Order: sequence, then structure tokens, then C-alpha cells
Amino acid sequence: MVDKYEQVLELAKRRGFLWNSFELYGGTAGFFDYGPLGAMLKRRVENIWRDIFVINEGYYEIEVPTIGIEDIFIASGHVGGFSDPLTECQKCHEAFRADHLVQDMEENPDTLSAEELTAVICKNDVKCPECGGKLGNAYEFNLMFKTSIGPGGKRMGYLRPETAQGMFVDFPRLLKFYRDHLPFGATQIGKAYRNEISPRQGVIRLREFTQAEAEIFIDPRDKTHPKFKDVSDVIMNLYSQEGQASGETKKIALGEAVKNGIIAHEFLAYCLAMTHKFLIRVGVSPEKMRFRQHMKDEMAHYAADCWDAEILSDRFGWVEVVGIADRTDFDLKAHAKQSQKELSVYVAYDSPKKVRKFVVKPDMGVLGPMFKGKAAKVANALKALKAQELSGDEIEVTVDGEKIRIDKNSVKFETITEEIHGENIIPHVIEPSFGIDRITYSLLEHSYFEEEAKEKIEDEEEESGELRIVLRLPSEVAPVQAAVLPLLSRDELIKPGTEIINKLRKVGILVAFDDSGTIGRRYRRNDEIGTPYSITVDYQTLEDATVTIRDRDTMKQVRAPIKDIENNVYDLIYRGKSFEDAGI
Ligand code: ATP
Ligand code: GLY
Repeated sequence: MVDKYEQVLELAKRRGFLWNSFELYGGTAGFFDYGPLGAMLKRRVENIWRDIFVINEGYYEIEVPTIGIEDIFIASGHVGGFSDPLTECQKCHEAFRADHLVQDMEENPDTLSAEELTAVICKNDVKCPECGGKLGNAYEFNLMFKTSIGPGGKRMGYLRPETAQGMFVDFPRLLKFYRDHLPFGATQIGKAYRNEISPRQGVIRLREFTQAEAEIFIDPRDKTHPKFKDVSDVIMNLYSQEGQASGETKKIALGEAVKNGIIAHEFLAYCLAMTHKFLIRVGVSPEKMRFRQHMKDEMAHYAADCWDAEILSDRFGWVEVVGIADRTDFDLKAHAKQSQKELSVYVAYDSPKKVRKFVVKPDMGVLGPMFKGKAAKVANALKALKAQELSGDEIEVTVDGEKIRIDKNSVKFETITEEIHGENIIPHVIEPSFGIDRITYSLLEHSYFEEEAKEKIEDEEEESGELRIVLRLPSEVAPVQAAVLPLLSRDELIKPGTEIINKLRKVGILVAFDDSGTIGRRYRRNDEIGTPYSITVDYQTLEDATVTIRDRDTMKQVRAPIKDIENNVYDLIYRGKSFEDAGI
């Protein structure tokens, strides 16, 4: 039976949304092109993301190279551990994800090591799914695309596997930009690359894909969110760790989920709410969306809590489209270690704190003549000592690799009370990470409807009995936002049509002109690419300067004046004006 993936892909290819890359040369798995309508649809999805995260939350967007130097990915752990287990058929040499092949035999195959997976394959006599050949030992295959920078191949680089690292590496500059104040965030929308082992899930698993990520740097001592009260009543489908144990998804208000400890803290919950709002706004169906918490053994070692937004797809089941994690201070600490730079923020206290402090006071009158040019270094080494290191009669310090013994009488020490006004802290990072391609495909699938056409169109044949394919895309996402259709292809009707097109273009509406075929056929053509409004110029237009506007979803029509049509349609698309209010 034809499933929705097939229906959507057929439409996507035929009407210019999406197709396999390099078709001319036979194609390669894991790469897709966005055609004229697909690229526009994707841009609109990205712009809604920008509206939410950049404009409304104030997390400015940055852009860094898609190639990163090796240091970055050593620090992030990608060089050491960003891999999937691979097994290769000894006969046809096809490669497979070893954990995927044993999915029916093991409860959590993705937690098994390559050796353990090899053992499961042998024990169950798993054969190559393509040719039935013997499978080789599983081994970890690093998913990063490796490259070299500059001639001679001396400097290694990688195509970035996530956009996130750009924000961590730029932390010192971003901190200055945000005037040393937490919390702040930076965002990036751009390409990420993963050399997936065997991408057989079409557009869901790509080797080059677009991520939209926010890295929000917060004070680890305060994980509340100032706007949490605005979203605490939002009800969401939560598939928590506990829920997964019993297979139960719960509809629960975010406020309650935080109060009951299901979601670790407000900041993370607020990011879940923003994700929910975004996905609904772009056209994902709310009943086919859930938030799944990572199980303890699935969670990255640095994550304090992690939730995936998952979308139900006809062919692939629940698919992760967004990952929302509390990454703690893992990344900043790792980059600080690798770069030998301090990555922290000075945070001032509301009121100064009094602290007891042990201080060492070297007697320079004694040390000066004794150590001459080295005296200052010796004094500094003494000042760095801790109380327990000063217990004997003699004190030992190391200066420039040389061990030096000093009489205790040359050093005074005491415990003093000091007033401190703040401290350096390493921020924690909350990260919502969106896969734009999976989201774009999902909203196409959720918007795709086939129904019997029952529309009776004035002066035209009845289309009854015919199949109407309609993409019920939200109007701000639809690539073509309005179609102008002269009832007949005659100059006297085309002229006002052109005037309307120019008016709509002036306010930024992407409008198509179509005068070929019956009006019913033209409506169908626009329905299947999701054009929300079709404007028809007819002979009444010549008498009273009005046109009909047809609503894609209800197929209802209203008559509206040409005067101010651009604002009328703009308000329908972007400002939630009701269709009835658009008519006279
Ligand atoms: P999966 O388990 O499906 O491989 P992941 O856990 O590796 O996904 P993340 O590393 O959390 O995914 O990446 C963040 C987001 O990037 C995902 O939610 C997804 O939308 C997107 N993404 C990751 N890998 C791919 C891919 N190969 N093709 C398309 N999108 C992807
Ligand atoms: N930045 C999160 C991820 O891509 O996995």
C-alpha cells in the first residue's frame, strides 16, 4: 500500500519541493535538493524559528565556518566518540548500523559496545539484509567528514557535525557582546554534516542537513526563567522516563511537570514550550507530537536532563526532530582545557560576602638578600601555599623546577576576613537543537490531504468525483502565498490581475499568476502546493473593481475590493484576520 511518505515525495518531486540530489548521475543516499517551492518553504520555517528565538527571545544569530579545526572537535569529544557501530557484509560489502540489525533481539542495542554487538550478531546468526552474506565484526565508525586545511594536508579539519560548537568557541566574544551578563544566548541556522552509515530513511536521515540551534548560557545557581509563568499552563504530551517504563504518554501542564520533578527545571521547560509553539506554528499536528525524555542510560554523560520533540510519521513512526538538553558546563570546561583559556563569567553578588581567608606573607627583608633575582618568584610560590603545607619547621617550594627549602621564620601567615563582591563561574548551557529538514518533511506529511473534490465553481464544470490533493500549510509557511487567476486569459482581465500582483509584491507576498486551463484546474494546482488564497479576476471586476478571494481549506469565496487588497491579504496571511472579514 502507498504510504504518506510515498505520496508526499511524489508530490514534492512533481511540484518542485524536494528530490534526491545528483539525480543526473544516479543519486547518492543521504542528500536531498530543495526545489523552488521547497527552498522557499524551508526558508519560511527558518524565519519563524528566527522570529521566536532571535526576535522574541533576543538570542542573536551568528554565522561561523562549517569547517572546524581539529582542536574544536577534540575538545567537544567528537573526534574520540562521535561514532556509530558499523558492520560490513563480507560478500557484497554493503555497510550497516550493527545496532539497527539487532533491534528485535536486544532491548537497548544502542547502549551495546561494538564487541557486544558482534557477539549478538554471531549468536543470532544475523545475515546481510541485502544478499544474505556473512557479516563482519562490528566496529565504531566516526561520523565526521574529515578534510585537510590548506595545501600539503598538514592541518586537519572536519565538516561540523552540529552548529553548536561555533557558539561555544565564540563564548568570550559573545560574553563581551552581551556586556558580561548572564543569561544570554546565541543562535545559528546552518548546515551540519554526518557521514551516516546507511541512510535508508530518505529525507529523515541525511548526510548534509540544516540545524537551527540555540546555546543559552545561564547561571548554574538559578535555573528559573523570568517568563516561565507565561507558559506554565501550556499542556503538552510528555513521555517521561517513568512514562516510558509503563508505555504511557501524559498530557500535563508544564508548571506541574516542573513542580513534580518530571522536567528538571523551569529553563528547560520554557525551551520545551518554545519548541511546542514553533512546531505548531509551522504546521506540525499537535496530536502527532510528543516530548520524550531521554532514559538515564541514553542521556549524554554531560547532560543533566534531555528531552526530544518527536513527530509521528506514517512510515517511520516517532521521529526525533528536536533535542533539548541541559548540557551543564561540559562544553565550556572542555574548551577551556583544550584552549588553555579561562571561559567563565564574573558574577557580582547582590550584597558583598565576608569570607575567612588564609594568607601567607613572605618577609622580603629576609628573602631579598637570600634569593636576589629569584626572590619575587619564591615569594609568589610561598603565597600560593595552603595552610596544611606550612606545618613543618621548613617549607619547601618549587621555583623554575628547582626545589627550595626556606626557614619557617621567614614567612608569616594568618587567617583574615575579607569582603568579596562576586565570583567567577562557568555558565551552564541549555540547548534546543532543531533539525530543519525533518521538521519541513513532517509538516508536509501532516499537511497532506487527499479528498474527493466537491467544489462547484462558477461558470465551470463541476469537479465532483475528482481527487483533490491539498496541502493545508499554515499561510505564513506556504511557499506561494497567493495566486492571481484571471477567469479567462484575456487582456481586459489580465490587466487588473497584473495590478493586483504588483500591489501584493510591494508588501512582500510571493504571488503566482496562472491563466492556463479551467479555473477549477488552476485552483487544484494551487491547492496541492498549499497556496492559501486564490484571487480571481472576472467580468464583475471590470464593473466594480472587486475580485473574489478563495480560501484553500474551506473553498469558500468572498468578494473584496482591489483597493487595499495587499493589506487585506497580508492581514489574512500574517495577522490572523478571519476570512469572512476579508470580504465586503
Ligand atoms: P538520531 O538519533 O535520529 O540520529 P540524533 O540524536 O543524533 O538523531 P542530535 O544529535 O540530537 O540527533 O541532532 C539534533 C537534531 O538534528 C535532531 O533532532 C535532528 O532533527 C537533526 N538531525 C540529526 N541527525 C540528522 C540527520 N542525519 N539527518 C537529518 N537531521 C538530523
Ligand atoms: N547540538 C546537538 C546535536 O547536534 O547533537
